[in-house]
Amino acid sequence: MSGVGIWGVGKGLPKELVLNDDFIARGLDTSDEWIRSRTGIQSRYIAGPDEATSDLAYMAACEAMAAAGVVPAEIDLIVVGTTSPDYLGFPSVACILQQRLGIRVVGAFDVAAACSGFNVAMTTATQYFVSGMATCALVVGADCLSKYVDWTDRSICVLFGDGAGAAILKPVQSGYGVLYSRLYADGSHADILNIQGGGSRQPFTKAVLDNKSHFIHMQGRAVFKVAVTAVLDALQTALTAIGRTPEDLALFIPHQANLRIVEYVREKMGLTEAQCFTNLQQYGNTSAASIPIALCEAYAQGRICDGDLIALVGFGAGFTWGVNLIRWGGYS
Ligand code: ACO
Repeated sequence: MSGVGIWGVGKGLPKELVLNDDFIARGLDTSDEWIRSRTGIQSRYIAGPDEATSDLAYMAACEAMAAAGVVPAEIDLIVVGTTSPDYLGFPSVACILQQRLGIRVVGAFDVAAACSGFNVAMTTATQYFVSGMATCALVVGADCLSKYVDWTDRSICVLFGDGAGAAILKPVQSGYGVLYSRLYADGSHADILNIQGGGSRQPFTKAVLDNKSHFIHMQGRAVFKVAVTAVLDALQTALTAIGRTPEDLALFIPHQANLRIVEYVREKMGLTEAQCFTNLQQYGNTSAASIPIALCEAYAQGRICDGDLIALVGFGAGFTWGVNLIRWGGYS
């Protein structure tokens, strides 16, 4: 073996599509113009009462396995990036998936890195190949953050959508697959994006519910500043490390949080619009699912070809961020 590459991708989405104008119909003091101009978001899919994170992850995993031509018996590792698992604490989404997909008893676990979850899951799974502990991995990014937002808080609820994306990792030819992988975290920014109530520090009580501290709280402008600095530094460092420049990138797939963040980074990096993929307009911020859903759609649209160098760059609460540079293809 020589490299670890992506053999197939898939996505899973909830049934309900919510347009910006639907918030107004639900009594929220907002407008399509405000949401579009501040974030780029036009719509998002929202999980219903009968849909949880593992349901979306299951759909994405089935699609990715079919695309890769992989059957459950081949998979020997499952890693799921999520911070909105079906159950508070345990069992993990990875264990639910293992059972539902009929995969034999293998290593299966969730990683919690908020919107950086897919990057962290990819990097973790890649290291299992390097150490000889995996030969075929299912890697998923899945979140239902709509269940963690206050639907009367206009500054938060318009931003998020639900979904899942999955990838099958297997060995590829030398020079292909994951060429560079790096994770970062800086816990000093924990206060700018968090959920304070409902965990072991503030277990669920009536006060937690009354104060709404079990919902997402964010300092939007601070997140913007930390995110753009982190993404720019990480991407520049990654390209330099493999002796490449932004011009060499066929496609930059950033975490789909906000069009203004993406555009700021794209311009600073000197990337063209054709080199940058966005679909947050349709899906909103799907957290750990945003990069694999974007990857899935970019591939389906013919935006990724064999031999292309692509960059997956995630960032999220923690603060966490990470990069994976991948040379697509190299199968056989
Ligand atoms: N509709 C209408 N008005 C709104 C809405 C809304 N949905 N939300 C907030 N406002 C109002 C506020 O109440 C405020 O009104 P006021 O001036 O009368 O008090 C005004 O708009 C400005 O509010 P700000 O919060 O200062 O809005 P800002 O211009 O900073 O935009 C945003 C908010 C889009 C979140 C911005 O800070 C941003 O782009 N942040 C980046 C962080 C981000 O995208 N986070 C996404 C998730 S995090 C992640 O994925 C890691």
